[in-house]
Amino acid sequence: MNRDEIQRRVGELGEWFHNINLNGVWTAPNHFLGDYPNVKWRNFQHSIPRDLRGKTVLDIGCNAGFYAIEMKRRGADRVVAIDFDQRYLDQAKFAAEVLEADIEFYKLTVYDVAKLAEKFDIVIFMGVLYHLRHPLLALDLIREHVAGDLLLFQSMQRGSNEIEPLERDYPFAETEVFDRPGFPKMHFIERSYSEDWTNWWVPNRACTEAMLRSAGFEIVEHPEDEVYLCRMKPLSGDGGAVYPAGRIS
Ligand SMILES: C[S@@+](CC[C@H](N)C(=O)[O-])C[C@H]1O[C@@H](n2cnc3c(N)ncnc32)[C@H](O)[C@@H]1O
Repeated sequence: MNRDEIQRRVGELGEWFHNINLNGVWTAPNHFLGDYPNVKWRNFQHSIPRDLRGKTVLDIGCNAGFYAIEMKRRGADRVVAIDFDQRYLDQAKFAAEVLEADIEFYKLTVYDVAKLAEKFDIVIFMGVLYHLRHPLLALDLIREHVAGDLLLFQSMQRGSNEIEPLERDYPFAETEVFDRPGFPKMHFIERSYSEDWTNWWVPNRACTEAMLRSAGFEIVEHPEDEVYLCRMKPLSGDGGAVYPAGRIS
């Protein structure tokens, strides 16, 4: 495909969120966050092994496939990428075709990851949590059905960056702790945030970390404010995720 054909197809595929270099044609050169997500990736790319040969990767909410393509560039054996938005999947398929990246794409919501019936060495769950009405359910489903080892996670965060050390339990009369800035909090967006009605829940930093732990992920690196590299940890029945293995049993 020559440059003009690529440029024409990029235009036909609508507005892009990922700025990807398709053999000299940039897909989102005027992105409001700059050269996105390259600018973000540069801050944490060192956290992912450079050589992914022998590894399988699942990219959930892949959008135009930036991270899936990067995993393929690192030699991952198999990369599966899902998104529930056909428009983004079409962009991703085109980008992968131009860059000759062998990636399997499926139209699938995160709530249906069980349908993949497979565990992956690396699961990428970047920039999706705050778009969900049921964020903790999504983390629990990922933990139960597709996480095999590492989780690369990112969420928009708002509120305090402080972390309040948490007690195992609090008496009913304790109310003040909820007002401390470092106590885990999710902000519910009833209407819209940043002109985007798909933003539903925005955690503060303490909440992001608490949810990851609660869903059965141990944080092993925090290379960038919003980005976490996690490893699965055994689920305990004592204060772990309620679904699927936690306190109700
Ligand atoms: C902000 S973009 C993040 C894209 C990419 N992961 C990144 O970090 O650059 C959010 C993406 O998640 C997808 N998404 C939102 N809700 C989803 C869901 N329930 N299941 C699968 N994908 C979803 C959107 O279609 C969009 O492509």
